[in-house]
Amino acid sequence: MLIIKEAAELEAYVAHEKNNGRSIGFVPTMGALHEGHLSLVERCVSENDTAIVSVFVNPTQFNNPTDLATYPRDEESDARLLAKAGATVMFLPTVEAVYPNGTERDHEFELGAAAEVMEGKYRPGHFQGVAQVVCRLFQLVRPDRAYFGEKDFQQIAVVRNMVRSEHLDVRIVPCPIRRADDGLALSSRNALLTPEQREIAPMIHRVLKESKEFAATHSLEQTRSHVVASIDAVPGLRVEYYEIIDADTMMPVDNWAEAAWVVGCITVYCGEIRLIDNITYKNQEGNWN
Ligand code: PAJ
Repeated sequence: MLIIKEAAELEAYVAHEKNNGRSIGFVPTMGALHEGHLSLVERCVSENDTAIVSVFVNPTQFNNPTDLATYPRDEESDARLLAKAGATVMFLPTVEAVYPNGTERDHEFELGAAAEVMEGKYRPGHFQGVAQVVCRLFQLVRPDRAYFGEKDFQQIAVVRNMVRSEHLDVRIVPCPIRRADDGLALSSRNALLTPEQREIAPMIHRVLKESKEFAATHSLEQTRSHVVASIDAVPGLRVEYYEIIDADTMMPVDNWAEAAWVVGCITVYCGEIRLIDNITYKNQEGNWN
């Protein structure tokens, strides 16, 4: 596995691969890699000739300076895991390599209404920062396919809108959420939980999962309130939002029949640590599952 730190070196590498007719797959990450990230990398390796993984803690998507300062980093372990997973290149740039003209955005990305709700509402500027870095990385890597996890469900919709509005030619491939044995969605931020917090955090998924049965006999709003109340009842957990949405638009819906594909998206504070997760009530085909 090559470790590349300079933008020009990456561009030269990509040009060489493309000239040789090799397909390029890309997995953008912020590092502190776990099995969730690695499942994306393994899929990328299996579907492309060249698999490029970026590890870059993007400062422009953090609206909270403490969150940026405490974000876990472990480049050595990341390099080892990526080599083992079969990645061709680990792109490990500096902030200057990604943003040679500084981190100020030169334009607002058109991300649509999907970027205004949920994470967009509670983390102002977050999705502009995500769009900025993913767009820049796509320009450097020029991937045929790029892999994103459904844990960050709204991020996929926003990245797709960015790809459309910037006229980029890349296929966005969504990948399922990977969980710990106790159901907690794997996340780099889990490393920041105390042992006590790590014990209660799986309640998030447990309540969401049980809410699917509850949903069979209750209205959407009853289900939504039930999830919020059940999680808030756990000492140490506090729901920031729980929205049940039309997954084709990211817009909240009022009843189960209003949309085909229905997903519940949640953010919960476990102490100071912000955890996100989601659950599918009705799948893309409109079936309860
Ligand atoms: P990061 O949080 O490091 O996640 C990188 C990718 O891994 C994202 O697509 C995310 O959805 C996916 N991922 C994380 N945990 C996962 C899990 N448990 N199961 C499946 N996939 C999982 O998301 C970002 O970084 C950044 O916003 C980024 C896109 C890299 C832009 O900076």
